[in-house]
Amino acid sequence: MKIQGSSWLFFLFGFSVVVHITTADLSYSVPEEMRPGSIVGNIAKDLGLDAGKLLARKARIDAEESYQHYCDIDLKTGNFVIRERIDREELCGEKVSCMVKFELVLESPLELHRISLLILDVNDNPPAFPKDTIKLEISESAVKGARYRINEAHDSDVGQNSVKQYSLQNNEHFVLSVRDDTDGSKNVELVLDKELDREKENDLNFVLIAVDGGNPQKSGTASIHVTVLDANDNSPLFDQAVYKASLPENSALDTLVVRVSATDADEGVNGEVTYEFSRISERAKKMFLLNSKTGEIKVKGALDFESNSKYEMRIDAKDGYGLSSDSKVMIDITDVNDNAPVIYLKSLSNPIPENVSPGTEVGIINVQDRDSETNGQVRCSIQQNVPFKLVPSIKNYYSLVSTGQLDRELVSDYNITISATDEGSPPLSSSKSVQLSVADINDNPPVFEEQSYSAYVSENNKPGSTLCSVSARDPDWRQNGTVMYSLLGNEVNGAPVSAYVSVNGDTGLIHAVRSFDYEQFRSFKVHVMARDNGSPPLSSNVTVSVFISDVNDNSPQILYPGPEGNSFMTELVPKAAHGGSLVSKVIAVDADSGQNAWLSYQIVKSTDPGLFTIGVHSGEIRTQRDISESDSMKQNLIVSVKDNGQPSLSATCSMYLLISDNLAEVPELKDISYDEKNSKLTSYLIIALVCVSTFFLTFIIIILGVRFCRRRKPRLLFDGAVAIPSAYLPPNYADVDGTGTLRSAYNYDAYLTTGSRTSDFKFVSSYNDNTLPADQTLRKSPSDFAEVFGDCDDSPEVGTCAKYSLVSCVL
Ligand SMILES: *[C@@H]1O[C@H](CO)[C@@H](O)[C@H](O)[C@H]1NC(C)=O
Ligand SMILES: *[C@@H]1O[C@H](CO)[C@@H](O)[C@H](O)[C@H]1NC(C)=O
Ligand SMILES: *[C@@H]1O[C@H](CO)[C@@H](O)[C@H](O)[C@H]1NC(C)=O
Repeated sequence: MKIQGSSWLFFLFGFSVVVHITTADLSYSVPEEMRPGSIVGNIAKDLGLDAGKLLARKARIDAEESYQHYCDIDLKTGNFVIRERIDREELCGEKVSCMVKFELVLESPLELHRISLLILDVNDNPPAFPKDTIKLEISESAVKGARYRINEAHDSDVGQNSVKQYSLQNNEHFVLSVRDDTDGSKNVELVLDKELDREKENDLNFVLIAVDGGNPQKSGTASIHVTVLDANDNSPLFDQAVYKASLPENSALDTLVVRVSATDADEGVNGEVTYEFSRISERAKKMFLLNSKTGEIKVKGALDFESNSKYEMRIDAKDGYGLSSDSKVMIDITDVNDNAPVIYLKSLSNPIPENVSPGTEVGIINVQDRDSETNGQVRCSIQQNVPFKLVPSIKNYYSLVSTGQLDRELVSDYNITISATDEGSPPLSSSKSVQLSVADINDNPPVFEEQSYSAYVSENNKPGSTLCSVSARDPDWRQNGTVMYSLLGNEVNGAPVSAYVSVNGDTGLIHAVRSFDYEQFRSFKVHVMARDNGSPPLSSNVTVSVFISDVNDNSPQILYPGPEGNSFMTELVPKAAHGGSLVSKVIAVDADSGQNAWLSYQIVKSTDPGLFTIGVHSGEIRTQRDISESDSMKQNLIVSVKDNGQPSLSATCSMYLLISDNLAEVPELKDISYDEKNSKLTSYLIIALVCVSTFFLTFIIIILGVRFCRRRKPRLLFDGAVAIPSAYLPPNYADVDGTGTLRSAYNYDAYLTTGSRTSDFKFVSSYNDNTLPADQTLRKSPSDFAEVFGDCDDSPEVGTCAKYSLVSCVL
């Protein structure tokens, strides 16, 4: 993860843009009892949303669990549809306004809309009297205008659809009086209009009808049965018209709520008062118990403020004759902090990419507490050690917002614990754990474990052998962290790198493709790239240096004297030579290096073993003693040259020496050179050639002598008259101090004095280590060199001359 400089700016401004929660409400109203599938309205249109995006934005309808199944959104059209028949009476009971609240949740970006659905009443319930038959017992002495209370009819519907009016049928004695009570209920009374006469009729039957205001109208009836009594009687009287009580929810069973009391002026059985509920809702019936003798109302069920906080009921007090009066009981339930807050995760983007900027909204949380007032006031918090925080939004909604840069490579999962505590006493709290994963972004390039790699290999290795292995790590996830290795396509010594090494893309093992030759190059570098598989991929590269070590695979090459039979390399040794005089020198090179190229010289066979000796490391052949007349004129030495490798390699050569001052003796050369050959013709030819050469040589020697005398500074490489043809050395070898053949560093000067002493060339050569294969150089014979120099005069840049990088050629 890379933290950019601008992230803190993001951090500062992030919060102002994250909250998409809107309070824009949508309100619909719909009659109860609609068919499932009915359309309430088009949410998308009403909110100005693109209906085509609803599916992508995971639009959904959220509501309290008990309402969840009523409605839904059609994601294709954006229609708000009824899923299940809604019964207003079941949902809202006697509440005048029946409102159900839904929320429309949209994701990316998170958005929340409140939808309220008003359920309209349909006149689907008729008025109903508590009892089908109402029994009244009335004394015949009752006077006109006496009033008798009747329990009112009840209609589950509300408003217009509730009970509207009453009427009496088949009745001569009574008229109806309906008055509105202070509490909104109706007081229905029969008023005696024509006095009763027990002797004429001792009981009366008629019908009371209640009708509601709906359309069509619905009605309910009760039949009234009046028994005419012939004794005086008093009805019981309550000591209060309304009893009020208040008790906390969750009160224990059998808790006394209130005690009603009515007294009857009569004595005996007429004065015995009994109590009963005359009008009570089904809910209240489950909650309260009335003791018919004592008038005590006690708790019977579990009182819950949240489901019902007010109860109203009517109680009849009756005496033994059935005369009654009624009173009203109103019970208020008070709230107790008995509901812990509930945390709802309304929306969560999971997983979130690790590169989200600080301040990004990750989720929406809603907290609900069913208690009221302070008991229902909730504070929400989140634990400290996570890079997220809660930002309060509209009431009881919070946005979960990131506060810092995330790095999946450090923390890939968060357990976010959200706690909610209400302000009740004692407070209740709850918590919710939210699992949040961080998704990978390819933000880490592979990193090699080492800054550079070195491989060491002996030359002549097998193709395919392993040189070394490179390894890079990438902490990203899956393909973003899968590392592939490859060679970067540069060249090594002019050839494509793939001709030298290959790398295993998966393991990073580097193999040699070919066998290396230390004499060609001693080291080279390749670049290996590690690339991950992300999109776009990230990569890094590393240098691998391959060092080739020497193996003694080249035997010494004798440059001088040349191969037997190929030249007339015969050294003249003056008869007057003293002991210790330098006579000649064996020049050999070895293409290997170090010990493998440290040469030692040895005479393995000679005509006169006591006469000549060879410097072990210089190869210089010197006389061991003064030459005497008795020494044979022709001397033959076989010299072996050995390197110091393990095991060592060697080469041998023959050297012909002629002890003579006099060129006239030269004809005998043939016996030295070609002892075994008897062809006279050849011999003559040789003699003729040697004659000419000797004359020429003498001429040259005289000229040289004159020049050297003039300069007073001998320019011969070696002392005495014997000059060693340094030009036999290939450009990349030089004879230094006679201690063997060592590689010279750069340009060098050399005087060329061939064994035939025909010329004195000076040339300067610069060379490149790798441009000149040793074996080609080493096979040059003197005649080749002559050609080289000849060519050089004409075109120094081409042919063998160019190969030798000859810069100048001076005679
Ligand atoms: C997160 O919580 C769950 C259960 O609540 C637990 O199993 C898991 O180990 C927790 N992870 C971390 C990283 O704490
Ligand atoms: C790799 O990173 C890219 C973004 O760089 C992301 O889109 C992708 O999901 C990541 N892949 C995995 C397997 O996490
Ligand atoms: C190799 O890496 C270096 C820095 O580490 C970068 O400058 C260079 O461009 C890279 N080369 C290639 C070919 O990717």
